[in-house]
Amino acid sequence: MRDGFVSVGKLDAFIVDGPPVDISGAIQAVAPSAFPRMLSRFADAADGTPAVSAIASTCTHRGCPVLTGDGVWGSTDSPIYDASSHVVTCPCHGSQFNVQSGAVVRGPARTSLISFATEVRDDEVFVAIAAEPANPTAKFNLLADAGVSVGLAPSVFPGTGNKYLVDFGVFVVELFFENEATLTYTGIRRDGSRGSSETVAIQTTYLRDDLFMVTWQESDRTTVVHVEDYEQFIIHTNITNPDQSFAKFRGTFKQIR
Ligand code: FES
Repeated sequence: MRDGFVSVGKLDAFIVDGPPVDISGAIQAVAPSAFPRMLSRFADAADGTPAVSAIASTCTHRGCPVLTGDGVWGSTDSPIYDASSHVVTCPCHGSQFNVQSGAVVRGPARTSLISFATEVRDDEVFVAIAAEPANPTAKFNLLADAGVSVGLAPSVFPGTGNKYLVDFGVFVVELFFENEATLTYTGIRRDGSRGSSETVAIQTTYLRDDLFMVTWQESDRTTVVHVEDYEQFIIHTNITNPDQSFAKFRGTFKQIR
C-alpha cells in the first residue's frame, strides 16, 4: 500500500453509479482526525480501469453531513443522489455537489467539497488520508482558504432554479425562482392547498454575501421589496398595495426543491 493511503474495501462493495458510500469509518480508524468522506463508483473506463472518487462529505455551506443531514435543518434516510448527473444534494438546505469533482452545482454552498486521491489495486480501493495539493479540487479549496473566490461568485443569486416555502406567519407563500429575472409565487393555504399564483419579472440586487434585495411589481400594480437572507433563511418583505397601504412582514423560509 502506498504511504498515506488506506484501504476502504473491495471494489465489488461499491455499486457502479450507486449512491455515494460513507467511508469515514475506514479512514478514521487509521487517522482519527481525518476529514469525513464518501466514495462513489462510476462506469469503468473504456480500457476497463475502474473509476472511483473520494470526496469530503461535510457540506461547505453550514457543515451538515451531506449523506444524512442532521436533526436541526433536515435529514434523510438515504443519500439524495442523481446517478445520471452524479449530483448529491445536501438535505439541510439543498446545496448540490458533483461527486466526481466535488464542485458546487447549486448553492447556497459556494465552495467545492475537497477531493482525495484514490487508487484501485488488486480489486481493492485505497483512498489518500490527506487531500493532495496536486489534486485540482484540493487546489481549488486551498485557494478558498487563502481568500480567493471559488465556486459560485458571492454575487451570484443563490435562489436561481430553487423553490422555497416562506412562512410569514399570517400567510405562507411558495417562491420559485426560475432564473435571476423570473419568479413564480403561489399562495399556500393553511390546509396545504394552492392559492393564487403569478409569474413576475424580478430584479435581484446583491447586498453582501448571502443577502439579496429582490423587487417586483404584480399585475395589479402591487409592488414588493424583499430582503432575502440566505444564511439565516429569513425574508423581510415590504408590500405596497394598489390602495397605497403598506405592509411589512418577516418570515422564515426553507428550500423545497
Ligand atoms: S448545510 Fe448543506 S446546504 Fe446548508
